[in-house]
Amino acid sequence: TSYRIASIPGDGIGVDVTVEARKVLDGAAASHGFSLSWTEFDWSCERYTKTGSMMPEDGIERLSPFDGIFLGAVGFPGVPDHVSLWGLLIPVRRAFGQYVNLRPVRLLPGTTSALAGRGADELEMVIVRENSEGEYSEIGGRHNRGQGNEFVLQESVFTRVGVERIIRYAFELAKTRTGRVCSATKSNGLIHSMPFWDEIFAEISSEYPDVHAEQCHVDALAARMVQAPDRLDVVVASNLFGDILSDLAAAVTGGLGMAPSGNINPTGEFPSMFEAVHGSAPDIAGQGIANPVAQILAGAMLLDHLGETVAAQDVRAAVEKVLEEGIVQTPDLGGKSTTAELGSAVVAALS
Ligand code: NAI
Ligand code: MG
Repeated sequence: TSYRIASIPGDGIGVDVTVEARKVLDGAAASHGFSLSWTEFDWSCERYTKTGSMMPEDGIERLSPFDGIFLGAVGFPGVPDHVSLWGLLIPVRRAFGQYVNLRPVRLLPGTTSALAGRGADELEMVIVRENSEGEYSEIGGRHNRGQGNEFVLQESVFTRVGVERIIRYAFELAKTRTGRVCSATKSNGLIHSMPFWDEIFAEISSEYPDVHAEQCHVDALAARMVQAPDRLDVVVASNLFGDILSDLAAAVTGGLGMAPSGNINPTGEFPSMFEAVHGSAPDIAGQGIANPVAQILAGAMLLDHLGETVAAQDVRAAVEKVLEEGIVQTPDLGGKSTTAELGSAVVAALS
């Protein structure tokens, strides 16, 4: 079998980590009897600077025949962040019905986690972030510009269909894991959207008597994620809350350099897109020192999505082996190795 994968390295360290992840995925494919046929797209802030757009007008059509999309990261100083987000990432997520943003978080060996050594070495959770609506909306605007009574309105959109499907996805996922779901909410502050979310959460939880369902205010949940995360498993959250919680969860379990994510179209009608949680990290771009683990683990999620679960597991095991040995470490892990050295070490550790 050969799978067609669209690769969009993007900007900054997105480029460095994608190269290394491709090395690992090609290695895993070769030893498990399939191949990955890559097509690379130069869609990025660099392209925006030259042409005025992040991707060509028919970008979505060009991506649609692929079996999967592998994205580095987009965003670079000089181009406003809303341009890179709304010019590429959000259109892809929405056009392809990638309404689930899945962000598994695990405490990996050999990391400088805030929780390491506190007995929480089995820590594993997954943030299920709503990825198609919610707070990330273009509705609103700026009024009375420059005047004393200037104001902006920024509206959120929560649809019944959108909220139901993400919450149901979280419950289905919990059934395959420890059977716990926590919903991140803030109904005391956001008095329209969050009570609606809570109501639907309660409705759906009644369909899953075997899953332990819990509602948490997002602020308290943030504290709990740092102080007592071991009783969390599946956390379901709106677009904004899920975005924030997943960076937090990544930070407490080993850093942004280790956290993968998938933008999933659960129906399989359109391609899904896999990327690291982190961005293009302009502060370390071009130095060859970014940690490629997050992108490599995003690649393992891509393999899982293609149904190549044995190869995916092999990739994860190879990453763990290298981290456990603790010899090849990028600076964020406390070492002096380069992105390429860590990538090569993972390739060598494949079975
Ligand atoms: P960031 O995730 O790029 O960086 C935050 C901090 O973490 C930096 O100090 C960086 O050096 C460090 N870091 C991140 N990934 C690392 C890795 N693999 N290895 C070692 N250290 C790592 O977030 P920031 O600085 O807020 O955003 C930078 C740019 O990336 C912005 O333009 C932003 O819009 C964009 N961005 C893009 C995303 C995407 O393409 N999905 C997601 C998040 C941000
Ligand atoms: Mg983020």
